[in-house]
Amino acid sequence: MPEKELKVNDWEDLYLGSKTIKFLGKNKDIPRTYLGDIYFPIEKKMDISQKFIRIGKIKLNDPNDEFWLDIKEVHRTLILGMTRSGKTLIQRRFMDLFHASGFDVVWLTDVSDEVKSSKRELQPKLRPFLHPNDIPAPLQLKVYRPMFFKEFNNDLPSDNEWFKLSYKDLTFGDLIMAFGFDSPNFKNYVDILSLYWNKVNSLEQLKEKIETAKLNPRVKAGILRPVESLIKYDVFGEEKVGDFIADMNNGFVVAFNFKGHEEFGDSSLNTIPQVYASIIQNIIVKSRDKGILKRRILLIIDEASKFLKQRTLMHDSLKSAVNEYAKYGIYIYFSTQTTKDVPDWLIRQCRYIFFPFNVDPETALQILKRAQLYDFHPSWHRDIIARLREMRMRKDGRRQWCVVDMHLKEETVFWNFPPLSAHQESL
Ligand SMILES: Nc1ncnc2c1ncn2[C@@H]1O[C@H](COP(=O)(O)OP(=O)(O)OP(=O)(O)O)[C@@H](O)[C@H]1O
Ligand SMILES: [Mg+2]
Repeated sequence: MPEKELKVNDWEDLYLGSKTIKFLGKNKDIPRTYLGDIYFPIEKKMDISQKFIRIGKIKLNDPNDEFWLDIKEVHRTLILGMTRSGKTLIQRRFMDLFHASGFDVVWLTDVSDEVKSSKRELQPKLRPFLHPNDIPAPLQLKVYRPMFFKEFNNDLPSDNEWFKLSYKDLTFGDLIMAFGFDSPNFKNYVDILSLYWNKVNSLEQLKEKIETAKLNPRVKAGILRPVESLIKYDVFGEEKVGDFIADMNNGFVVAFNFKGHEEFGDSSLNTIPQVYASIIQNIIVKSRDKGILKRRILLIIDEASKFLKQRTLMHDSLKSAVNEYAKYGIYIYFSTQTTKDVPDWLIRQCRYIFFPFNVDPETALQILKRAQLYDFHPSWHRDIIARLREMRMRKDGRRQWCVVDMHLKEETVFWNFPPLSAHQESL
């Protein structure tokens, strides 16, 4: 561990576009190649731009042949690759560099509780692969664990903090979604709830109201079922726990640890993780609308296929919000092992699609076809497939990626740089 870690203030320079990071104190972890002989205070230039981020190089042995990604226009991005292809590592670099470039970053679905390793600077093993002007640096990060997971495991995972949405955070739409009443079949229930929902401050109070109301017993039981389950799992409280919007305004990247979301099997509640992620997303858009969040936002959705399944709430709320996202400067980076559940309309909205070295060319072709249903260029796609087949991984672990820019109709193959913060190695 460094004797003294980077503080938020050290990063402030970066928000202002300055290119200097000050490392105060002696830091044995930073190799000599970065800092020369170690004296302190140490200053080191890092290239930070509000318009482009450097993500790799095209020829491995040519230090000047760099690949930068344009971040001027709002865009959506899909990263498609099988397990261990390096998706999380490349996303982590996006997280670090977007943050340094003045973005707020939310890692919405940290499904392996792995994002917390970014609280430390990049491990020595991967540092030789950095660009010489990169500086390994810890990320100002908070990882939140939704409290409803307590029903399965009471312990707070290390480096996490508890999180709970308050009843008052919810819109009526969110509530209906959480109850599973968001289909025309439940119109009757929705009408009844609309009379009570904003007269109470908690689910417990709502339950009382419904219990004492003059209602057909069957209707009453139907409404009470999800209310009671949500109370049992402690899903929405009277008071919220953890204020991630304030954290973002204080310079923190925020991640939500949804590890174990697949085990959430209780019949009426199996969409709770998706509902939660969706509500968090709505709160971000609203805060942006009200001007509470001032910077552009990068929203990272890992395991997208599991959170976006057709007819789940996340899918619907994302669909209705996606145009507003552009208006508010919200960028979305999805990563997924399969696009089976990722809807066509979303793929068609992606400006960039990233394929790793080991992508199956047939799968890649299907995605490109889905992305360009009415504008399909067989010869261009043949070129891309040929390039995908040539990609490889070196013995030292470095990998080639191909990014397809759907606007410019260009593909680029590059070797990606590692993140600035620590990447958790998978076994
Ligand atoms: N460019 C790279 N250079 C060196 N090592 C890399 C690179 N990319 C990935 N790795 C290593 O490969 C392993 C897998 O990477 P990563 O965890 O990012 O894969 P993933 O696609 O997110 O996998 P999963 O689907 O299991 O989440 C890690 O141990 C990582 O350190
Ligand atoms: Mg991963």
